Amino acid sequence: MSDYPLRTFGRIKSRPIKPRQAALMTSLLPRIAIPEGRVEINALMPHAQAVWLEIGFGGGEHLAEQATRLPDTLFLGAEPFLNGVASALRHIDERGLGNVRLRAGDARALMSDLPDASLDRLIILFPDPWPKARHHKRRLVQTDFVAEAARTLKPGGRARFATDWADYADWALERFLSKPAFRWLAQTADDWRTPPADHVTTRYEQKRLGDCAPIWLEFERAGPDAYLKLTH
Ligand SMILES: C[S@@+](CC[C@H](N)C(=O)[O-])C[C@H]1O[C@@H](n2cnc3c(N)ncnc32)[C@H](O)[C@@H]1O
Repeated sequence: MSDYPLRTFGRIKSRPIKPRQAALMTSLLPRIAIPEGRVEINALMPHAQAVWLEIGFGGGEHLAEQATRLPDTLFLGAEPFLNGVASALRHIDERGLGNVRLRAGDARALMSDLPDASLDRLIILFPDPWPKARHHKRRLVQTDFVAEAARTLKPGGRARFATDWADYADWALERFLSKPAFRWLAQTADDWRTPPADHVTTRYEQKRLGDCAPIWLEFERAGPDAYLKLTH
């Protein structure tokens, strides 16, 4: 789906994975890994009332907390950073979560495996900023990514994007709104300055590494007419 191979801002693996987490990589991960190829949502969790996808879940704190709050929702997570996957497995194991499935890899490949209109929510929290202009093409949010988001979200579904890099917020807003498939839900400045009520603070967010306070962009996937305009 993207012309650009996965380039992560950090490394895929930075420090040795702790023995307990390493054990979960061989025991738990194979049981909850999302297989390559077309994803059958029902096979992952029959009767799921909703499906969320979190892209780049980092250490998995947000994913695990949301999955705890919403036990009838299926949570898909994609993250290539193996220490992050190992950390998420620990949270999933400790909380005994049965509604989380992971892809240890590129979210863009996972999205292309998803059927049309399969997601209720798409969550992108503090993606790698790639602030230098010559690296902007490595950013996750690109025009073709937004088209995939439109394809995989159900009409009325939501996409949430947060960043603490002002230029990436502008960049994402421009791309999400370049097609009629998405409607920006903000009505006042408070809506993009204030974390959404159901947000769970992430590890990266706490580091405040960006050049501005966090910016929260919430989009709604418009109805089928807008989808046709996007794809034709
Ligand atoms: C800056 S970190 C933020 C992590 C987490 N969301 C948080 O807020 O703490 C960005 C994460 O996105 C992951 N990432 C980068 N490219 C990705 C891709 N194509 N698919 C899935 N995850 C990706 C990175 O490995 C990294 O863990």
